[in-house]
Amino acid sequence: MITSALPYANGPKHIGHLAGAYLPADIYVRYLRAKKEDVVYVCGSDEHGAAITIQAIKENTTPRAIVDKYHALLKSNMANLGISFDIYHRTSEPIHHQTAQEFFTALNDKGDLIQKETEQFYDEEAKSFLADRYIIGTCPVCGNENAYGDQCEKCGTSLSPDQLINPRSTLSGKAPSKKSTTHWFLPLDKHEGFLRDWILNQHKDDWKTNVLGQCKSWMDLGLQPRAVTRDLDWGVPLPPNVDGGKGKVLYVWFDAPIGYISATRQWAIDNNKDWKPYWQDKDTKLVHFIGKDNIVFHAIIFPVMLKLHGNILPDNVPSNEFMNLEGDKMSTSRGWSIEMDDYINDFVKKENGGDMMVDALRYYLTQIAPETKDSEFTWKGFQDAVNSELVSIFGNYVNRTFVLMHKLCKGKVPPLHETLLDDADKKIFADILETKNRIENLLETYKFRDALYEVIDLARKGNKYMQDKQPWIVAKTLDTNPDNQKLIDNCLHICLQLTANLTVLINPFLPFTAKKMCYMLKVVDKMLDWENAGKPKLLSVGYSLRAPELLFRKIEDEEVKQQVEKLNNKKMAMENAALKSADEKDATLATVKPEIQFDDFAKIDLKVATIISASKVEKADKLLKLEVDLGFEKRTIVSGIAMHFTPEEIVGKQVVVVANLAPRKMRGIESNGMILMAEDKSGKLHFVSPQTVIDAGSNVS
Ligand code: MF3
Ligand code: ZN
Repeated sequence: MITSALPYANGPKHIGHLAGAYLPADIYVRYLRAKKEDVVYVCGSDEHGAAITIQAIKENTTPRAIVDKYHALLKSNMANLGISFDIYHRTSEPIHHQTAQEFFTALNDKGDLIQKETEQFYDEEAKSFLADRYIIGTCPVCGNENAYGDQCEKCGTSLSPDQLINPRSTLSGKAPSKKSTTHWFLPLDKHEGFLRDWILNQHKDDWKTNVLGQCKSWMDLGLQPRAVTRDLDWGVPLPPNVDGGKGKVLYVWFDAPIGYISATRQWAIDNNKDWKPYWQDKDTKLVHFIGKDNIVFHAIIFPVMLKLHGNILPDNVPSNEFMNLEGDKMSTSRGWSIEMDDYINDFVKKENGGDMMVDALRYYLTQIAPETKDSEFTWKGFQDAVNSELVSIFGNYVNRTFVLMHKLCKGKVPPLHETLLDDADKKIFADILETKNRIENLLETYKFRDALYEVIDLARKGNKYMQDKQPWIVAKTLDTNPDNQKLIDNCLHICLQLTANLTVLINPFLPFTAKKMCYMLKVVDKMLDWENAGKPKLLSVGYSLRAPELLFRKIEDEEVKQQVEKLNNKKMAMENAALKSADEKDATLATVKPEIQFDDFAKIDLKVATIISASKVEKADKLLKLEVDLGFEKRTIVSGIAMHFTPEEIVGKQVVVVANLAPRKMRGIESNGMILMAEDKSGKLHFVSPQTVIDAGSNVS
């Protein structure tokens, strides 16, 4: 039973996420499948919690619209990158709500949860309790003024809202009051004995040190009862029969990991299987792949829930550190990131055979996987890895083998002349077997970087072998010594068997490449079964093979330059937008511009106009081109409101325009005037218009 952390459906996810929790899991699962293990790999979108509702406010839409939009995006991105979930589910599905509610009820009925009345921050203006991310204030550790109620993103400290200095509500911006409310808690403190023994004792040798370390320091701080419910209206409602549960939902970190179970249930229904053994049979091996910010939830809190509920516990929680990007932390909100969607659009969808670019990314991300410490993605590094390893070593080896086999062995697998085998030949067979054994050990202990290195290293050995044997030189001696064909046969026979082995070994990492190699070798997918790895006779003698195909292509300097530029531009655009909106808000809300005289005001000619037509301006996301009727004339006005209104919804509306503003060209269109807009706190725009429809051209003063 393999899981990857459910990503929040609140926006696109970047390649650091991919490298952290999805790609390694996918490699592991593909390996298990090749071994014919009974394996289920589940994931899905995490669709609850403040991450979603806050994004909805930002995008000026509903939580439902947010999760629908980003669930679809994430699902397709993952599929495009070859992440082979057996199911990609979502936590807004009824089966998940039901599963999570049943889970809560089971624990509550057994008395495993405690109920407590607590004082919580409350926003009088918004009439709402303020959970977690709805409250910001100064971090007591580093002084960051915008720390969240659950975590300071600057220094990483986990916080509770009470620890914030000068707390304020993100809804109204005001200082919150306190109000009492009842919640359900998971008393982690009662399970400290179990946790310490299970994690620090039983798993001290097989869990990664970063995981053990985080668990230990968390426990050393003292385990506290942890609230598993919230006063919110977006989430899994408490089961209806729970006294006092009305209006409350499960805390997102309570419901989301249960999402692994609901996903398994849905998969079982779809495939006519029983889901229970995967979560209840003690012989099932459960592995959670996560990023380091998820460690305590998967290694401490969820295991306590699983144990209380009678489920199996994770055998391991392989967690990765973070992947930085070109010298800085990767962050979508700061614009310093490569979204999976960007990579897919720039490299995969744009070119024929874009699948090879999926494997190129999978290769580099695995090669620099942040397994034990933070690592760094650079476009130059990507180029180097692809050009000098995938292209020059692996691709080159396979290509040379095929070309020579067609040239010197009539396109068929040549026979092996056992009596003529020398040490170098035998060494290759030994290398194949040893490599396979090492890869197995590394994969079973979640060392994907090293495992991948072994595959490339084997190809490197193949290149060296071929270089030493020089069958193309031997071919020149055939006139005088026809028997030398046997030496050529042996060399290419061995090179081909090595190629077949490389296909099996590379398959979990670069599945598209393996598929192409199978095609070239004219073998069926069955050859990819792991039991074939390490075998010296995967291809039968006399079998004719296809022509070689390009496995990888070089990354050009120009592409590297473009991507780095794109990254810098994106960051700058974000910074400008953030500065501008922060400035605008502070400056315009709290202060009044310098005093003017009536004459100054009278210079402005304000008139009511009716919008006659509206259309988008090409290559300008923010602009709409409007035709307005001013009574005495019609005009074109270009207005920056396209992010807020569709052309259809504003036709017919009456607006107030500054009629005597000097014309200005925007995107080549002359704009004659300006439309007045009111901006509310959330940044949403509203027209300023008469209460009822009046004559177009009426004066405003
Ligand atoms: N959505 C969380 C995050 O992105 C991860 C949830 S993992 C699960 O950090 F176990 F809760 F599903
Ligand atoms: Zn801090």
